[in-house]
Amino acid sequence: MDKSCIIIGSEGYLGKHIVHYAPEYGYNIVGCYDISTESTSPNYANVDLTSKESVDNINIDVDYIFMFAGLTGTYAGFDSYEKYIAINETGLLNLLDSMRRKGSTAKIIFPSTRLVYKGFDKPLKETDEKDPKTIYAVNKLACEAILNTYATSFGIPYTVYRICVPYGNEISGDYSFGTIGFFLNRAKSGNPITLYGGGTLKRTFTHVADICRQILLTASLPQTDGEIYNIGGETYSLREAAEIVTRNHSTDIQATEWPDKDLLIESGDTYFDDEKIRCLIDKTVTISLKEINF
Ligand SMILES: NC(=O)c1ccc[n+]([C@@H]2O[C@H](COP(=O)([O-])OP(=O)(O)OC[C@H]3O[C@@H](n4cnc5c(N)ncnc54)[C@H](O)[C@@H]3O)[C@@H](O)[C@H]2O)c1
Repeated sequence: MDKSCIIIGSEGYLGKHIVHYAPEYGYNIVGCYDISTESTSPNYANVDLTSKESVDNINIDVDYIFMFAGLTGTYAGFDSYEKYIAINETGLLNLLDSMRRKGSTAKIIFPSTRLVYKGFDKPLKETDEKDPKTIYAVNKLACEAILNTYATSFGIPYTVYRICVPYGNEISGDYSFGTIGFFLNRAKSGNPITLYGGGTLKRTFTHVADICRQILLTASLPQTDGEIYNIGGETYSLREAAEIVTRNHSTDIQATEWPDKDLLIESGDTYFDDEKIRCLIDKTVTISLKEINF
């Protein structure tokens, strides 16, 4: 039987991909929500998570809620902390409060981030030490804890997926997203790629189709209730990833000094041990960075 769901943040990079892939994995999309005034998503309605009244209009009479709206950023969080707290934390609380008042026990699927971890040069497990260095990372760690409190007191189930570095774009057909998009755009425009500290830091890179696959295959499994999973992928240093992506271009990759300000909030090596999610699915990587003809 179809699993009914809504997607909040349906107009964002990850939300759009969840909308795209959900039907393939047996989900019936009942509604899509975002603050954006334009959308091509099915059954779309405009919502502002920071408003209780607006959130009360969301149709939560479903099995699953993909809560993919949010505000990301590094230094910006210090300048606009009110917005970060309002959208990322109060927004989630408004949704949970609405569910509590309406007696909903839909399961919330929530994307968290590598940035909650203390960086180490070893594959990080979900239980490893945390050291959020930005307001955004603090927001995400707070959201993970908030979800746990509502599960305990009001029986609202959830699963958290921590994402490291996504890439790929199945919607608009280019790869202009995030770190990989940055490398590619520099290469295509004939500009050198500059990497702080020579790009020795390691990350786990996951194609967006594999992120959606891991989430959509496991979110409906009862054993994932109340659990946190690292999203699996391929681990490379930033320099290795830049070399792979630009191999068909004559791009100069240059090392530069870390700016003091950036070094203070840099997490260090953050790459994932994905054993926990691999216990649930056959494989985490179906698309390899090395196989893509950028
Ligand atoms: N992309 C990544 O690298 C990454 C990694 C880890 C976690 N995440 C998390 O996944 C989620 C989605 O990320 P993304 O990359 O798709 O971000 P995005 O910025 O592309 O999308 C976020 C969406 O949230 C919507 N939104 C913002 N404020 C809103 C509000 N007040 N009410 C309703 N909607 C609002 C935006 O309009 C946007 O469409 C975020 O919570 C992000 O923190 C992303």
